[in-house]
Amino acid sequence: MKTFGIAVIAGDGIGKEVVPEGIRVLDAAGRRFGFRVTWQAFDWSCETYVQTGKMMPDDGLKQLRPFHAIFLGAVGHPSVADHVSLWGLLIPIRRTFQQYVNLRPVRLFEGIDSPLKNWKAGQIDFTIVRENNEGEYSNIGGRLYEGTDNEMAVQQTVFTRRGVNRVLRFAFELARTRKKHLTSATKSNGIIHTMPFWDECFQTMSAEYPDIRKDQYHIDILTAHFVRHPDWFDVVVGSNLFGDILSDLGPAVVGSIGIAPSANLNPENECPSMFEPVHGSAPDIAGKGIANPIGQIWSGAMMLRHLGVPDAADAIENAIAATLAQGKVRTPDIGGKSTTQELGEAIASHVAGDNANR
Ligand code: NAI
Ligand code: MG
Repeated sequence: MKTFGIAVIAGDGIGKEVVPEGIRVLDAAGRRFGFRVTWQAFDWSCETYVQTGKMMPDDGLKQLRPFHAIFLGAVGHPSVADHVSLWGLLIPIRRTFQQYVNLRPVRLFEGIDSPLKNWKAGQIDFTIVRENNEGEYSNIGGRLYEGTDNEMAVQQTVFTRRGVNRVLRFAFELARTRKKHLTSATKSNGIIHTMPFWDECFQTMSAEYPDIRKDQYHIDILTAHFVRHPDWFDVVVGSNLFGDILSDLGPAVVGSIGIAPSANLNPENECPSMFEPVHGSAPDIAGKGIANPIGQIWSGAMMLRHLGVPDAADAIENAIAATLAQGKVRTPDIGGKSTTQELGEAIASHVAGDNANR
């Protein structure tokens, strides 16, 4: 039997509540599709930071490397500055393991109320490819004359040919497996060095993909198009910052941040990839047992697809769609009264095939 070793970092807040539901559903998929997952938990979090002064041990990355993948909940707690939790855990994992693609699907499901009027399930279905290793998220820079009137802060954006080309390549190839349409986010009118460089790389690679329809928009109007014309998109590629912003806007347009999944991919499979919901630790609802587990569960489906069990991934995505369409079990963020666990159990039982006829 195929066995996958998965490192689990539940993290903080609702991360600890949604991760068990992800595990529940993936275990159900394993029983049905004939694979096994061995889960190994790591208690790395802001709580750990408060006790030890570190988000993870010094050899944390070495401990993670042998796993097939990393399944992460969310990290972040009001008692620890957000940049500490991000730069102490998530960014070192993404960079050391060269998870240079952050993949974030956006889909409107039946049974989810979109804040946009008149869109039906199936009409909005696109995926965002965010550059995940360089760009605007750089630690090159510094401050001068701190605390004085002359204080200044400089932060360098870093775009490398290798870094830009490899994420564009991934996006073009992904578009080929979908509706063959790729949109690139730019801002070459205002950001006059890095963004024209990005656009040039996009232009050059375009020649290799005559079968793909290409579009390019400045990020400002692109955000407007996400709201006004969400059906225009298939694959959307953007730099680290632009991709980040678009991938919160996308899920917002189709209903709830609680259902949005993401994959941090090392496409070459030289290192483990990491799968996590788009949302954070949601301190405002943590501990209440009402967080929506779908973002976590759907991230688990993306993990199975990456690990080479697409039939199980499809079954989980279908179970999410079916559970939402039935509408009996819903957490409060999508207009219901169910708990995290009840929604996880409902999806798991769909995956198991128990209630196909209900
Ligand atoms: P957040 O995503 O945690 O919460 C934003 C809003 O959405 C809150 O009102 C929350 O209740 C709601 N929400 C989020 N996930 C939900 C779910 N599954 N079900 C129902 N409602 C949900 O973002 P926020 O408040 O900006 O950040 C909170 C903490 O999480 C911060 O410390 C932040 O740094 C961290 N964070 C961590 C991320 C990660 O681990 N990748 C990503 C984003 C934020
Ligand atoms: Mg974000």
